[in-house]
Amino acid sequence: MFSLSPTELKESILGCSDGPASFNSILNKQNGSIVSVDPLYSHTTAQIKKRIDETYETVLEQTRKNHSEFVWNSISSVEELGKIRMAAMNEFIQDFEKGKKEKRYINASLPRLPFSDKEFNIALCSHFLFLYSEQFTEKFHFESIKELCRVAKIVKIFPVLELGSVKSRHLETIINKLEKENYRVQLKKVAYEFQKGGNELLEINN
Ligand SMILES: C[S@@+](CC[C@H](N)C(=O)[O-])C[C@H]1O[C@@H](n2cnc3c(N)ncnc32)[C@H](O)[C@@H]1O
Repeated sequence: MFSLSPTELKESILGCSDGPASFNSILNKQNGSIVSVDPLYSHTTAQIKKRIDETYETVLEQTRKNHSEFVWNSISSVEELGKIRMAAMNEFIQDFEKGKKEKRYINASLPRLPFSDKEFNIALCSHFLFLYSEQFTEKFHFESIKELCRVAKIVKIFPVLELGSVKSRHLETIINKLEKENYRVQLKKVAYEFQKGGNELLEINN
């Protein structure tokens, strides 16, 4: 999703809105430096596990309904997607308590983050900003991206689509506003594409 190079994977990384994903656990096992934030982390392991079990079938059913919005190449079926997602969530569940103690999983929410200026080299945010453009205002997006830029030197957001696989309604305005405030903003193509047309990230340098 982020086309991270081996060098970038060795830098200090913030994963924003990481949810019940496996990136933190796997990178930590490879001696990477990673902190994840998500409001989900206010819950206990048992509560998160219950929620995953309760929503698993609904999420797959929605994907079946919207089958044509996705590219079924590297993942060939909804069932395979389910297995991959469940394996990632299990990896997270097994790591969560240990990771909380090590301060790798922190309960926090955009648009405010509990970190000092430029505490991280890279901040990543996947499938939250832009994806929920209907639910979150342009102001929320702008403030959130500026907050990510405050705590990290480079910010990467993937994808730039909103639900329904259409370009985010906020994207153009956000790019213009960031450029007016002298941030360097680039849209970059990546190899990963699961949502049709979702093979671009927004990178902001400051
Ligand atoms: C669709 S999930 C994406 C999870 C993961 N990044 C991925 O790509 O698989 C969206 C995540 O955004 C988190 N979220 C919701 N409101 C948030 C906020 N205000 N700030 C940061 N994250 C938030 C949710 O808790 C959820 O884990």
